[in-house]
Amino acid sequence: MFNVQYSMNLDRGSFASKVGIILATAGSAVGLGNIWRFPVETGSNGGAAFIIIYLACVLILGIPMMTAEFIIGRRTHTNIASAYQQLAPGEPWFLTGYAGMLCVTLILSYYSVVAGWTLKYAVSSALTEMSTVSDTAAYFADFASSTWSPLCYSIIFLLITNLIIERGVEHGIESFSKVLMPVLLLIMGVLVFGALSMPGAKTGVEYLLKPDFSKITADVVLSALGQAFFSLSLAIGCLSTYASYFKDDVNLGQTAASVVSLDTAVAILSGFIIFPAVFSVAGVQPDAGPGLVFITLPNIFNHVFGGLPVLGYIFSLLFYLLLVLAALTSTISMHEEVTAFIYDRYQVSRKRAASVMTIVSIILSVLCCLSIGPLKDFTPFFGMGFFDFFNYLTAKFIMPISGIFLCLFVGWRLKRELVVEEITNKGTLPVPAWVCSLFIFFLRWIAPVIIALIFVNELGWG
Ligand code: PFF
Repeated sequence: MFNVQYSMNLDRGSFASKVGIILATAGSAVGLGNIWRFPVETGSNGGAAFIIIYLACVLILGIPMMTAEFIIGRRTHTNIASAYQQLAPGEPWFLTGYAGMLCVTLILSYYSVVAGWTLKYAVSSALTEMSTVSDTAAYFADFASSTWSPLCYSIIFLLITNLIIERGVEHGIESFSKVLMPVLLLIMGVLVFGALSMPGAKTGVEYLLKPDFSKITADVVLSALGQAFFSLSLAIGCLSTYASYFKDDVNLGQTAASVVSLDTAVAILSGFIIFPAVFSVAGVQPDAGPGLVFITLPNIFNHVFGGLPVLGYIFSLLFYLLLVLAALTSTISMHEEVTAFIYDRYQVSRKRAASVMTIVSIILSVLCCLSIGPLKDFTPFFGMGFFDFFNYLTAKFIMPISGIFLCLFVGWRLKRELVVEEITNKGTLPVPAWVCSLFIFFLRWIAPVIIALIFVNELGWG
C-alpha cells in the first residue's frame, strides 16, 4: 500500500566545499527568524531571561535534531520523501516527508510576503523615500494593506529565488551563499558598531545582558522553543535536502554545531543592533511586537540621526539590505526542498522543476498578500485569513509533529549501526561510542517528550 516509487537523478549535484556547505546551510537557518522574529520575541518576553532559555533550547535540541536531519539526507542522497521511502520501504514514514514539503510550501508563501516588505523598505531607503516619512505606522499600514505593491514585491522576491535555484546546487545555492553570507555578516558588523554608538546603547545592552528571572514563565519557555525551531529551519526536511548534497566525508555533528552557532550569533547580534536603537528614542518600548522592524525602527533611523541624515540613510539602507539577504538565503532553501523532490521524482530538468515550485508559491503568496490587504475580512480558517492561518498551521502543528516523527524515526526506526556509521563517517571520525549512545538516547526519549510538551501547551491543553 505504501510502496511509493522513488527515483534518483544520477546527476543531482553536490556542494563542492565544506565552507560552502556551512554557509549555505547557515543561510537557510539565518533569516527573518533571526533579524525580525527573534528581537520581537525577545522584546515581548522580557529580554535577557528569554535569551538564556533560547540558548538552552538551541544547544539541547538544535544540534542533535539538526544532526538527525543530516543523517537522513546524506545517507540517501535524495529528496525528503524518497529518503524516508528508501530508509523504510513500504512503511508510512514517507508521509513525514510530504508533511515537511507541505510545511515549507506554506511557510514560503507567507515568508515571501514579509521578504517582499523588506525589499520594498530597502528600495525606499535607497531612494531616500524612507527618510521623509513622518508617520511610519501609517506608511506601513498603507503599503501592507494595498493591493498591488506588496504583491509585486513578493513575486519579485520569488522570481529572484527561482533564478538562483535554477543555476543548481554548486553554481546557484553554494556560490550565492558564499557571497551573500559574508556580505550579511559584514553588514551586521557595521550595524552593531553603529548601534553601539547610539545614545541608548547602554540601556539596550543591559536589556540584553541582565536577566530578570522573575520574567521566566511557562509561556516564555514555550516561545523560546518555538523560536528555536523556526530559526534553525528544523524538522521539515529542508536541512535533509541540503544534506543530500553533502559529500561522504562531511562531519555531520560538527557541521550542525557550526550552523547552530552561526545562527545563534546572528540572532544575538541583531538584538545588539535593534535594542540599542530602540532605547535611543525616549518613550519607545522594546515590546512593540511585529511592527518593531517596519514601524519602530524606521522612525528611529529618522530621529536619532536627525542632525546627520546621511547616517540615517546609510543605517536604514544597510539594515533593510541585511534583511533582504537573510530572507533570500532562507527562501532558497525552502524552494530547493520541493524543487529537489520534483526533479528527483519526475526526472524533469532542474529548471522545469523550479518553475513548477515558483508558480505554486506565487499563487499561495498572492493569497497571503491579499489576506492582509483587500481580503482582510475573508477569514474562513477559524477566524483567520491565509497569512495568519498558514503561519499558525505550520508553526503550531506541522513543525512540532514533524519534529517528533523525525526524532522517533532516527532514534527508533533506523538501525543503530546505520546512525553510528553516519555520525562517524564509517568509523573514520574519532567520535566516542558514548556520544553515539547519548545521541540515540536523546532522540528516543528526551527530544520527543520536550517537543510533545511544547505542542500540547501551545495548543492550550497543558
Ligand atoms: N530559519 C529561517 C529563518 O530563521 O528565517 C526560516 C525557515 C527556513 C524556516 C527554512 C523553515 C525552513 F524550512
